[in-house]
Amino acid sequence: MTTRVILDCDPGHDDALAILLAARRLDLRAITTVAGNQTLARTTLNARRMCTVAGITDVPIAAGADQPLAQDPLHAGEIHGESGLDGPDFPPPTVDADPRTALQLASDVLREPTTVIATGPLTNVATFLQNGVGNIDRIVLMGGSTGRGNMAPLAEFNILADPEAADIVFRSGLPITMCGLDVTHRALATPPVLRRIQQIGTPLAGICHDLLTYFADSYRAYFGFESPPLHDPVAVAAVIDPTIISARPLNVEIELTGTHTRGATVVDLDRVTGRKPNALVATGLDVDRFWDLMIGAVEQ
Ligand code: RIB
Ligand code: CA
Repeated sequence: MTTRVILDCDPGHDDALAILLAARRLDLRAITTVAGNQTLARTTLNARRMCTVAGITDVPIAAGADQPLAQDPLHAGEIHGESGLDGPDFPPPTVDADPRTALQLASDVLREPTTVIATGPLTNVATFLQNGVGNIDRIVLMGGSTGRGNMAPLAEFNILADPEAADIVFRSGLPITMCGLDVTHRALATPPVLRRIQQIGTPLAGICHDLLTYFADSYRAYFGFESPPLHDPVAVAAVIDPTIISARPLNVEIELTGTHTRGATVVDLDRVTGRKPNALVATGLDVDRFWDLMIGAVEQ
């Protein structure tokens, strides 16, 4: 029995691979898009593009928030390019966007208990919660870290892009699993990984290889990484096989007012605050099993 999920994302190279993995291994009932890596128009077009090339034709795609709850939009064109999915030469998408808004589609899907996987800024998920959308049995998100950030010294992009939304999510009282940079920085798309994907030899594998090659080039240029971390599919993998991560119940607060620390996930690793745990925070990843899952989805 595969888990019924909604994937909220901001494609983005790693989000695109997360869509593929979720569609191949979970009961993916909806894709909702949010502004993040690029504008909402571009992240929505990119979701349609990835679904077209992957033959994902039965999952509705609905656009959500085009800006954060309480700040100016933050994008990551320096990583994902002008289109948000630079690298491959995508054909015109044949998968259309659903006429419903992300909130309407989520409300319809959430007539039954469903897991929400979030791999972008949490604006849509916060909006679902603020509108009393029920039946979210848990939220598994890519975001934050127990330590350093990436787009700010102490803040990871998805949280930094909408700290108010993240605060609403982490205060929701719902079961949350946080897959932060601690584990996603271990999911490195190394040259052997890229070779395994290229050797599959299908058009889809070629597109995934081109996506990861572009992602590798921009990560090397911007962050000095030898190989790029494939962040978002880690959250999907954690739903497919919860044992692929190790995680600890910890208290996580979102910094909203710090001059230099806004957007930080303040994780009480040593339980010194006395604050109740409100999330399962991933601290370990079975990297080999992760890549077997991810590459298996490309092959499928
Ligand atoms: O910090 C990494 C996260 O920010 C990933 O979700 C990536 O797609 C970007 O959205
Ligand atoms: Ca993302």
